[in-house]
Amino acid sequence: MQSAVTEGAQVLPTDRRPLEPRQSGRWDGEDYQARFDALAADGVDVHGEAHFVTTLGPRSVLDAGCGTGRVAIELARRGIEVVGVDAESSMIATARQRTPELTWFVADLANLELGRTFDVVIMAGNVPLFTRAGTQAALVAGCARHVSPGGALVCGFQLGRGYDLATYDQQCAHARLELMQRWATWDREPFQQGGGYAVSVHSPRVDQSADEAQLGVALGRAEV
Ligand SMILES: C[S@@+](CC[C@H](N)C(=O)[O-])C[C@H]1O[C@@H](n2cnc3c(N)ncnc32)[C@H](O)[C@@H]1O
Repeated sequence: MQSAVTEGAQVLPTDRRPLEPRQSGRWDGEDYQARFDALAADGVDVHGEAHFVTTLGPRSVLDAGCGTGRVAIELARRGIEVVGVDAESSMIATARQRTPELTWFVADLANLELGRTFDVVIMAGNVPLFTRAGTQAALVAGCARHVSPGGALVCGFQLGRGYDLATYDQQCAHARLELMQRWATWDREPFQQGGGYAVSVHSPRVDQSADEAQLGVALGRAEV
């Protein structure tokens, strides 16, 4: 298993103010990437999410709300098959420019139908806080239908910003996902009620009648 924290580098703190769209509510891919490049140049480890996902041992990952591909590109570099989806064309344009060899789609996760599933679907960087108001349930359902049996939906977002964990868990439950793990940070500090951030791992609910052979196809349940 890989360490969740890169030695010697300061991990991007989860309580920092999230990067916001600069103008008129629209994301600018070049500007967004430049801000992460500046953090990396300052010695900040911007791959906490990728470290976390890597420890789950997936073969395939959907980076849901991928922005300019920060998480997907790092996971691909580690040999994992990735697909990135984002609703903002400017973000995907930058992701494509950075790594034309990877697969990127401009699409709203709420309506997404890729016709396949992934061992892990990750929403990194407060995606539910930036989705269109009132579409969080559809966002969660769109992600859930792309999770393989035995796989996981991983999501990290700041708390106290208008979308709470109880609502997220309820929307996951409605999408037939159950909570497997909850952490305070991407390097697995214990979660405590009243904290400012949560990293949640949900897996598809296993019905009594489900084929046991499907269990743990991609990820050991003990791991998730
Ligand atoms: C703060 S950025 C995070 C980008 C990237 N995940 C990262 O961590 O660097 C939030 C992203 O979520 C995307 N997003 C929000 N709601 C979405 C939706 N319903 N479908 C697709 N992308 C969405 C936005 O376009 C934006 O690029």
